[in-house]
Amino acid sequence: MSTDNKPLIAVTGATSKQGRSVVATLLESQRFRVRALTRRRDSPEALRLEKLGAEIVAAPLELGLQKEFVAAFKGADGAFLMTPPIAPPETTEAPLGRQLADAAVEAGVGHIVFSTLENVDKITGGTKYAPHFTDKARVADHIGGLPISHSFVMLAFFYTNLIEYYAPRMEGDTLLLPIYLPEDFRAPFVDPLTATGPVVLEIFSNPERYNGKTLPIVGDIISPREMVETFRRVTGRKAEYRNAFTRDGLLRYFPEFAANEFFVRELLGMVEFAVEYGYFGKEQDLEWSRRLNPQTLNWEQFLRTTGWRGDKRSFGD
Ligand SMILES: NC(=O)c1ccc[n+]([C@@H]2O[C@H](COP(=O)([O-])OP(=O)(O)OC[C@H]3O[C@@H](n4cnc5c(N)ncnc54)[C@H](OP(=O)(O)O)[C@@H]3O)[C@@H](O)[C@H]2O)c1
Repeated sequence: MSTDNKPLIAVTGATSKQGRSVVATLLESQRFRVRALTRRRDSPEALRLEKLGAEIVAAPLELGLQKEFVAAFKGADGAFLMTPPIAPPETTEAPLGRQLADAAVEAGVGHIVFSTLENVDKITGGTKYAPHFTDKARVADHIGGLPISHSFVMLAFFYTNLIEYYAPRMEGDTLLLPIYLPEDFRAPFVDPLTATGPVVLEIFSNPERYNGKTLPIVGDIISPREMVETFRRVTGRKAEYRNAFTRDGLLRYFPEFAANEFFVRELLGMVEFAVEYGYFGKEQDLEWSRRLNPQTLNWEQFLRTTGWRGDKRSFGD
């Protein structure tokens, strides 16, 4: 059957926001077969991916499973590698990422795409604490030294953070949006659910062109003030910005975060890094992903497409 001749791409974290975008886009292109790695083959999202045509393989993103990953990557022409959210002080992200990359080399995968972020530790001389950035950058450094063709994607802040992690709340007749950035600071944002796939499809379609490259994925560059104004205009709801970027602001709206001081330090460190140094390095072309895919959603389009009106939602199942 002709489908057997299509290149096979293994996708780690296939049910994640990034992963499901990659799986769906690759399959919709009809140019690739997809092997989707997940902890639970029978979760609603895994079943949905299976229905789209993905081969589902059980593989948790955990340390000590190199052999399982080599088996899961066997026969793949490409692999999309990502690390799941890992809250500090847990420090498994860098070794996990290295394990995934080493397994891809051992399995003979042709090209890998790793979802990375900037090296905050190096850029700030160790003054800002954001291990979930730095650990990814360390994995990227490791991949750079491996005998395998590779590319990196670097996603902007997710719009979905406001939906699943920093959910708004009602006060009287007004919806308050506690946002982790200063009100007038313009930061890059993106919808991982729709923007990741088209970029990864482009890379796996032209691996030589993108070998060694880092591709930022951006949907909008927008301040919290503009986000809230747009939210009011699109939804017709009364809404106001609230500061969740200082320690006091953050803990006022999310007192539960105080249970993990490392996590609080990381959130504050990440935001300080973005504000003081820039979320992306200056050498990155922040227009590239929007030129590649003009359908990349800006914040207004994200609100209109999703119909989000301020409710808390989870993207797991
Ligand atoms: N939020 C942001 O603004 C932002 C921006 C750039 C980058 N990032 C990075 O993006 C990554 C998260 O991506 P995402 O939001 O697309 O993921 P996500 O939606 O939170 O999903 C993570 C997936 O990982 C899978 N998984 C497998 N093993 C796991 C394990 N041991 N622990 C937890 N999950 C496991 C789970 O799927 P199964 O249950 O099916 O296995 C889950 O669906 C993080 O590394 C984060 O730092 C985030």
